[in-house]
Amino acid sequence: MSDINPVLAYVDTHIDEALGRLLDLLRIKSISTDPAFAKDCAACAEWHARDLQSIGFEASARKTPGHPIVVGHDRSAPGYSVLFYGHYDVQPVDPLELWTHDPFEPVVETRSDGTKIIRGRGASDDKGQLMTFVEACRAFKAVHGKLPIPVSVLLEGEEESGGASLPMFLAANAAELKADIGLICDTSMWDPRTPAITTMLRGLCGEEVFITGPDRDLHSGFYGSAAANPNHVLARILADLRDADGRIAIPGFYDGVPELPPVLRRQWEALNFDASAFLGAVGLSIPAGEKGRSALEMVWSRPTCEINGMGGGYQGEGFKTVIPSKASAKISFRLVFDQDPHVVRKAFRAFVKERVPADCTVEFKEHGSGKAIRFDIGAPAFEKTRRALTEEWGAEAAYVGGGGSIPVNHELKSALGMDVILAGFALEDDRIHSPNEKYDLRSFHKGIRSWVRVLDALSR
Ligand code: BES
Ligand code: ZN
Repeated sequence: MSDINPVLAYVDTHIDEALGRLLDLLRIKSISTDPAFAKDCAACAEWHARDLQSIGFEASARKTPGHPIVVGHDRSAPGYSVLFYGHYDVQPVDPLELWTHDPFEPVVETRSDGTKIIRGRGASDDKGQLMTFVEACRAFKAVHGKLPIPVSVLLEGEEESGGASLPMFLAANAAELKADIGLICDTSMWDPRTPAITTMLRGLCGEEVFITGPDRDLHSGFYGSAAANPNHVLARILADLRDADGRIAIPGFYDGVPELPPVLRRQWEALNFDASAFLGAVGLSIPAGEKGRSALEMVWSRPTCEINGMGGGYQGEGFKTVIPSKASAKISFRLVFDQDPHVVRKAFRAFVKERVPADCTVEFKEHGSGKAIRFDIGAPAFEKTRRALTEEWGAEAAYVGGGGSIPVNHELKSALGMDVILAGFALEDDRIHSPNEKYDLRSFHKGIRSWVRVLDALSR
């Protein structure tokens, strides 16, 4: 057991160096979904391996069929062991023209109230967040020469692209990676004052569908109406996915989706979520989706189906009277409770096939899947973490749900039998996945201090 006050003081006096390292990391274009950036992903993994080595971790970037996975260990201290997970990959930056700066030339901006934000792709999701943990370890090592508990770090590069390398890697290296608990810093605070531990996240099933009609693009005056138009075929199918009440119309889709347990419903009601502010912040005011469900319920505990991209026909400048040969769409389903991604995928494909006219063809491409996750917060580590966060932020930390997905959670549970504590310092206005992503310097600084307190609490 060691005194944490000098460690917290070290964090405060060395925050500029920590920020400098984060800015270096943000310059690496580690977009995992686009093969053009594979070299950058590899460079990013190497950067992390070197950085972890520099604070005494035994660390390396390990090859996988996809992007490398970084593993580091510093298990010199005895006691309750943790595996920290983060992802070094980031989302694509498009539409690039909406960024005020180059997404990979991060800047520190000062707001009118004097607070600072770090702007750049990955500033929040997840480079800024994962570095809060690494910097906390650095501070412990600098002050006390050792960590308070055994720590392993696992950083992957395919989280944002639904990559398949991690499940295989975890299964193959289970004994090496097993720890008493998992820690992840890739989620949000409840609000800027209130820290949160996320206890449930939705699963995901990603699909791409391609409809082919005529064997080439056609003149719409010569062939219009007579020839099947894949854009129309696809538009009709996509429209059919939801009924007039916003319910997803795929037969069996809601199997395994219970109503929210009353205890959780009461907990969430007590959070007093402001739905109009939530939509107002993105320029909207009318709730879409399932009628009769609250916004919080829709994003935390109801499954959804979203068309993430669609294409077909002429998309360039000007106008072209064309019947396209092909149309396609990218669709993702967020899953809750016991919904099985493979069952959903099968049901979706059957739903589409049933609606494709006989002389058009349809093909599908799979884009990743993962089940939803719920953690039993009974393990003492949850309460220890919650108290540590409460102490740092001066406000009672909340147990919350979350709408996004972090596929590794399920693998850690199934392959390694580990529960995971999801504690993150992102804010609702961080614009993750959007242009002009940012992370508050306050999130970064107090995030580092939070992990110092959590590591210490877990050693007691
Ligand atoms: N960090 C996010 C998920 C998140 C953000 C959870 C905020 C809770 C609060 C994560 O990196 C992410 O975006 N994941 C993808 C995963 C998918 C591509 C497999 C997602 O949710 O879309
Ligand atoms: Zn993330």
